[in-house]
Parts: sequence; C-alpha cells; structure tokens
Amino acid sequence: MKKVIPYGRQWITAADIAAVKSVLSSDYLTQGPKVQQFEEAFAHYVGSRYAVAVSSGTAALHLSALALGVNAQSRVISTPFTFVATANCVTYCGGQVDFADIDPHTGIMQPEAAERLLRQAPAGTYQGLIVVDYAGYPADMEAFRRLANRYNLWLLQDAAHATGGYFHDSQGRLHRCGNGRYAELTTFSFHPVKHIACGEGGMITTNDEALYRKLMQLRTHGITKERSRLQQWHGPWYYEMQQLGYNYRLSDIHAALGLSQLARMEEALQRRRAIARRYDEAFRGTHIRPLKGAQGHAWHLYVVRVPGRKAAFEYMRAHNIFVQVHYIPVYLQPYYRERLPAPAAFPGSEELYGACFSLPIYPTLTAEEQTYVIEKLLSFNERI
Ligand SMILES: Cc1ncc(COP(=O)(O)O)c(C=O)c1O
Repeated sequence: MKKVIPYGRQWITAADIAAVKSVLSSDYLTQGPKVQQFEEAFAHYVGSRYAVAVSSGTAALHLSALALGVNAQSRVISTPFTFVATANCVTYCGGQVDFADIDPHTGIMQPEAAERLLRQAPAGTYQGLIVVDYAGYPADMEAFRRLANRYNLWLLQDAAHATGGYFHDSQGRLHRCGNGRYAELTTFSFHPVKHIACGEGGMITTNDEALYRKLMQLRTHGITKERSRLQQWHGPWYYEMQQLGYNYRLSDIHAALGLSQLARMEEALQRRRAIARRYDEAFRGTHIRPLKGAQGHAWHLYVVRVPGRKAAFEYMRAHNIFVQVHYIPVYLQPYYRERLPAPAAFPGSEELYGACFSLPIYPTLTAEEQTYVIEKLLSFNERI
C-alpha cells in the first residue's frame, strides 16, 4: 500500500468544519461561550459534577498536581508505563515520583506493587497515586480508592487514553472513566490521535467543588474577578491574583471542534471496538499476543506483543504501516534515570516494553487497510 497507515488519526467531518467556521465568524475566538458548552456536555457525558477545559492533557495534569497540593516535599506513586507527561506533572511542582510496576497483560499499574512501596516507607511518606488507563483499559478505580484510603492519599486518574471507557464496581455498577466517584480528579487529552481531537486540548473532571474552584483560577493566572473588599477601593475593573496560575485556557475554536466530536463519541467507540475485535480474531492461535481486552475498554491503542519485535517493527514500517511503541518506560528516560534514588526492578514493564507495539486503530481505518495490516503482521509471523 502506497499510503502510510498511522497507528492513530483524527476523524474530521463536515459538521466539525462547520462548527469551527461558525466560531471564526463569531465575536469570540477565545473566552467565549463554546468552552463552557464543551465543559457542560463533557461532564454530562462522563457523569461528573464539574469539568474544566484546558489547553492540553499535559496542562490538565499540571493543574491537577497543583490543585492537589504537590510541592517540593511531595512524593507520589505512579506507573512507569505511560507517556512522560504523567510523571512530569509531579516534577513540574518540584515533587518526586516513585514508580510501581505494571501487569504486563494489561499495562496497568498493579495495586499490589504500589502497596509494596507504601508499606516499605514510613507512614506519611506519600501523598498521592496517579493511575493511567493505559491504551484505554479501564483501571479498577475502586481498588485504587481502597488503597488510597488506607494510606490517606489522593487519587489522580490520567484517562488520556480512556475517554468513553468504563468499568463495573464490586456491586456491578457501571462507572464511566472520570465520573468523579473514585478519583479526586481525572484528566483527558484531546490530541488528534485520541478519541476527541481538538488539535491540542484537555479536560479535568471532578465532583469536588473546592478543587473545581482552584482549577478554574489556576487555568487563568490564578486570577479571580469575584467581588472583594478591595474592589470598592479600586473600582469596577478590579481583579485579583490569589495564586500563581497559568494561561492554560482552551480557545473557543478548539472547544467547538471538541463539542462537535463529542456528539459522535459512541459511534467512534463502536468503530474502535469493531477494529479491536477483528484483530483479536485474526491473531488467535498465532505468535502475536494482544493485550487483554475488557468490556469497557476505550481502545485508544491496540497493543500486541510480537516475538522479534524490532524486526517486526521495521518490517511493518517498510510496508508503510506506522506502528509505534507505547511506551519506553519513564524510568529509562535519561532525565529520570539520573534522578531516581536507587535502581529498582520492573519486570512487568521490561516484559511489555521488550515485545510490544501498537497497531493502527481509529474510526476512519478502512476494512481494506485493516486487512492489509493483518496480512503483513501474519506474514511476518509465518517467518518466525
Ligand atoms: C497517558 C498520557 N497522559 C498525558 C498525555 C498528555 O496529553 P497531551 O498530549 O494532550 O498534552 C498523553 C499524551 O499522549 C498520554 O498518552
């Protein structure tokens, strides 16, 4: 196939383009009505009380870490099997991240591995846990909440891969990722390879009003225009900077695109699920081992473990199939390697990193393209 088939790609329709165009001819390119509409629709979709739109998934993580009080004295536990932004949000605030290993069959941090770190450290060493729904697999947030409660920790869920994902709790109740029931805060990313493409964009959801208010301030320089005593002295133009915040706002142009895409979430998820099912069937009984699925999997990535991964990767790339490795474990990144207190063993991460890559999965992937991807990977498989 001449055309390159990427591992992920946006899905833009005429309705999306019309939504963006209408903002371009409106009064507000930013700080207009679309951001609030997007927030309300997103909160309604995931079932949370509040949603705060921001300029990227990274900004969502940074603001979350700030709102949760991460500072130079903080220590936080997270997964090493993620994009660097997950760990960076703690580092931005001067805190330290310690990694707990993953289950190599799902890519999700093991609560037992996190608990081992917690048990070994003096009480009060850690303040929080950051869980990632790797590839869209919905982590068992009820189990992580129990752990967090036992050790008096906050819980931040990085659901950059899991918009639309869900899991069932021990009572059989369905929880959409980010509904605010278990994690204090959940973050999402709207980068073009994700479920909702804004270009760049992100969201934070929560049920906690105090955190919501903090996030709204931090997103706009830490400034509030709420009435204060000093307003009378200054005048009606008065605004007040109460904390050190940022400009992490989402523009109305991006929000209109996100809102339009949100309307197609279920259709997009169905399409991703159908692609995953077809891969599952095609690789049954072969040497290609997909990661575990789940009913509420959001299928941002379709990750397989392949014997001879490097050769397989090169073979697929040579055939214009742009597979990608998600991820180089964060502790292997030179920046973190130099800062980690002591070398630790992460057999789950080593196992998965040593064998995996992600196959193309996105709503506009055609049946013909998927057939080509399957044929190529199976033809590599026959050579080993
Ligand atoms: C797990 C995870 N967290 C956070 C991010 C950061 O999101 P963004 O690219 O929107 O800043 C990404 C981006 O790929 C990610 O994969």
